[in-house]
Amino acid sequence: MVEKLWGGRFTESGSKRAQKYGASINVDQQMIQEDIQASIAHALMLGRQGIIDDADARQIVAGLHEIWADFSANKVTLKVAHEDVHMNVEVLLTEKIGATAGKLHTARSRNDQVATDFHLWVAKRLPDVIGAIKRFQKTLLNLAEVHEATLMPGYTHLQHAQPVTFGYHLLAYVGMLQRDVERFEFNIKHANLSPLGAAALAGTTFPIDRESVAAALGFDAIYHNAMDAVSDRDFAVEFLQSTSLLMMHLSRMSEEIILWSSHEFNFVTLSDAYATGSSIMPQKKNADFAELTRGKTGRVYGDLIGLLTVMKGLPLAYNKDMQEDKRGVFEAYDTLMDALYIFNGMFATLTVNQQTMTESTHDDFSNATELADYLVTKGLPFRDAHAIVGQLVLLGIQTGVNLQEMSLADLQQASHLIDSDVFDVLRPMTAVNRRTSFGGTAVSEVHNQIKYYQEKVEEG
Ligand code: ARG
Repeated sequence: MVEKLWGGRFTESGSKRAQKYGASINVDQQMIQEDIQASIAHALMLGRQGIIDDADARQIVAGLHEIWADFSANKVTLKVAHEDVHMNVEVLLTEKIGATAGKLHTARSRNDQVATDFHLWVAKRLPDVIGAIKRFQKTLLNLAEVHEATLMPGYTHLQHAQPVTFGYHLLAYVGMLQRDVERFEFNIKHANLSPLGAAALAGTTFPIDRESVAAALGFDAIYHNAMDAVSDRDFAVEFLQSTSLLMMHLSRMSEEIILWSSHEFNFVTLSDAYATGSSIMPQKKNADFAELTRGKTGRVYGDLIGLLTVMKGLPLAYNKDMQEDKRGVFEAYDTLMDALYIFNGMFATLTVNQQTMTESTHDDFSNATELADYLVTKGLPFRDAHAIVGQLVLLGIQTGVNLQEMSLADLQQASHLIDSDVFDVLRPMTAVNRRTSFGGTAVSEVHNQIKYYQEKVEEG
């Protein structure tokens, strides 16, 4: 017999290297608290159901509590030789209470055990993720409130398109983050299903009570099919999907922060706490954290594709491939929480260079649509108006004069429908404030949007 919890039918040990290759303790020790919790709930149920003696159950539970206390006090050494967190805990329990420890594994398998621990790990963290997103939303909403009337160019194709306000631009991100919140909220439903009691794949002959164990662990419901319970990693894929999408949003924000803080844009200045310098160029102040987030987004996508790929060819039920399911989730979680924390700080402390932003909306042709709309209200078909304004823009480019700087006489040469009231229409702030359609950039609308999202963020 080989010295392993599963060593009964083995006569030879594997090489050290094979042992290390097969071990997951370095990764799954992150779930030790969940593993102990689940074991406590399982042991209590075994006692309640009369599957093991009450006294044994109590001894097991006491031992497990002690292991958690030891671990918290840094007094536990987890060993690669014991392969994974589940067997390490069982060995520790045996060291504490002797042979009774062996009764804990009645009516369960590592397959439902690992699935349970992983569900608990994800379920426990989802509220933290949602809280961190909401905190960031609040910071953006505060900034949007301050800048609900700060003019900035709105872009398409990264070319000046139509003037908007900075507050309005920020609210677009608040909306994306709101959908992120809703995706993670949905994730809770599937993470909160209990696999425990599925045993290896087929259920068990013992009279277990899966419902009460699930309730004790805080799960909302149990899997209806034991084979599904031990085979399913959808909740983890969903977590990585939601995380990937959120990182994609942060990555787009990163790109804008990098542009806005460049010499050419100079729309924002990052606080020193959220920028770094260069080892050779003394003048440099780099938006490193934005760049890094843009880069880390690629890694998180890798985690998602990694798990999807691990799962795609697996026959039911458990396969050892599935041991590769956790690292990416753990890493993505850390990245996500760090990124949200840092983005929150970065936006809370940046300086908005209001004057540069505003001036940038005056020094362009982004009021061309206003002039075309103006001609339409005077009775011209939009296509004709578009052509006339296009010619004026061309003239302006050739002579280095913006539309609002042209003389009334010049404008009237293009169309006799133009009158002196045009100059108010051509002001960027007028352009903004006339966009009162629902969801538009008018300050009054931005105000409504801020109220709407403030209420959303307080929900739930
Ligand atoms: N360390 C394993 C994992 O993370 C636990 C489950 C092992 N089950 C088994 N039958 N080998 O997936």
